[in-house]
Amino acid sequence: MDMEDWEQRHTEAFYNAKEALPYLDGMFVAYNSNIDAIRHLTEEDVTKLVGFFDEAEIQERVAVYPREIAEPMDFLARLLISMREGKAGEVPAYTEETHKWLKEHLGFDYARMGGQAGIISNLLAQLGLKKIVTYIPWLSEEQAEYFVNTGNILHPKVENGKVVLKAPAEAFNPGFGSKVNWIFEYSKDLNVTCAGGNFKVPRDNRLIISSRPKWIRLDMDRLVYEQLDSIFPVDGAMLSGYQMIKEEYEDGSTYKDYVEHSVEVIKKLKSLNPELRIHVELTSIQNRLIRKTLLTDIVAGNVHSLGLDTVEVANALNVLGYEELSYSVIRKGENGIMSLYQGAVQLMKDLRLERVHVHSLGFYICILAKGHPLTLKEQRDALLFSSVLAAAKALKGDIENFAEAEEGLRVPVSAKGLEDLENFKLYCTGRKLCSPDEFEYGYIYGPDHDAILIPTKVVDKPIATVGIGDTISAGAFAAMLARMKQIRSGK
Ligand code: GLC
Repeated sequence: MDMEDWEQRHTEAFYNAKEALPYLDGMFVAYNSNIDAIRHLTEEDVTKLVGFFDEAEIQERVAVYPREIAEPMDFLARLLISMREGKAGEVPAYTEETHKWLKEHLGFDYARMGGQAGIISNLLAQLGLKKIVTYIPWLSEEQAEYFVNTGNILHPKVENGKVVLKAPAEAFNPGFGSKVNWIFEYSKDLNVTCAGGNFKVPRDNRLIISSRPKWIRLDMDRLVYEQLDSIFPVDGAMLSGYQMIKEEYEDGSTYKDYVEHSVEVIKKLKSLNPELRIHVELTSIQNRLIRKTLLTDIVAGNVHSLGLDTVEVANALNVLGYEELSYSVIRKGENGIMSLYQGAVQLMKDLRLERVHVHSLGFYICILAKGHPLTLKEQRDALLFSSVLAAAKALKGDIENFAEAEEGLRVPVSAKGLEDLENFKLYCTGRKLCSPDEFEYGYIYGPDHDAILIPTKVVDKPIATVGIGDTISAGAFAAMLARMKQIRSGK
């Protein structure tokens, strides 16, 4: 694959998307937003944190692999695991104890919009989409302040039994408190010493401690559901936050109730606009039952598109019964990218999706069901556009407008990403998935699917990593829908 070609394709794709985006009427985005308290960790911070505990106990806790943060030691154990592997993680905390401890013992650098739906809404608004209808079931006054003030984000509000769309600052519920998540970012090559052991962090990444206050319910207000036609016209919906669903609630309801309501919302959205396309953005879900139910009951057969990273592909495969494939995705190594590819194809088939977009550091793989709505070149453009956005986000921390997005074009295509894809060429041509020429373009024509492979722009020293996945998925999905709309209008 030729670096120059890919630079050129990025530039062209970026301006194509810029022209297409105004054709969109709007996007519906739900459900999760929160406030992210971000702390970038230094070597001194980690040494200090380790110093608060007994090192032998830390080791034990690391071995236990806590799936919930009940006390500060659980946090430290998951942090060390995340840093050792350089793997993103998100672990729920149902009590305030660790939050208080972190405030006293560490503190954060700054706070900003968090949660996939919050991040996606702000991004699309700043890219200038005509209308974003955001729905956050727990929108508080403080949370509303984190939405950008561009005038194109609207939130449903019930007034005298009627649903109206208002700016978030006029649509919050004064009864709600705020959900604050801690984001611990760390950089590649940071040295960690603990319990006599020593390791170097392999890549920039982050660990999230996700607060789950009791009042959080992943649900839609009955009246908003009944008057869902009020959010239209919109061309697509981006849904996320299902990780918040719990197995059981104190009032006797269970995950089944919330899953059922979620599916009803999806069905109603589709019945109101049969052309509407729906994307679900995944994140790490510690609870295996909820992870599996999300995939088999909410995603499968109901939505069109899924966005996720490498670890999430492995986790999804794992609960769907493909353990071996899942381990091989995680282990990376020689067969990593092949397993990732096979895994993504499997997800497309099992979950009956039109599109599976996997973002990995340095490249994206997008599996498309036969009959998907665009040409492979157009699908590739949508992905390349999102690669530029991801670069801009890593460079600046936030993309305030299109001009800032454009700065992503300055970031070079990842040599490592190109090399990884190059190693995959033999597999593809050997299996006759594509000719060597087609591979150069990133096009694959499988027997039961098509696919796009692109190397992406990667910032060497990113300002932040949180929210980059959401940026990629939202950018590509919006650009794809926009191109569809543009074609329909005869352009
Ligand atoms: C998850 C986290 C949130 C973070 C977001 C970034 O939604 O809960 O804190 O901002 O992921 O993708």
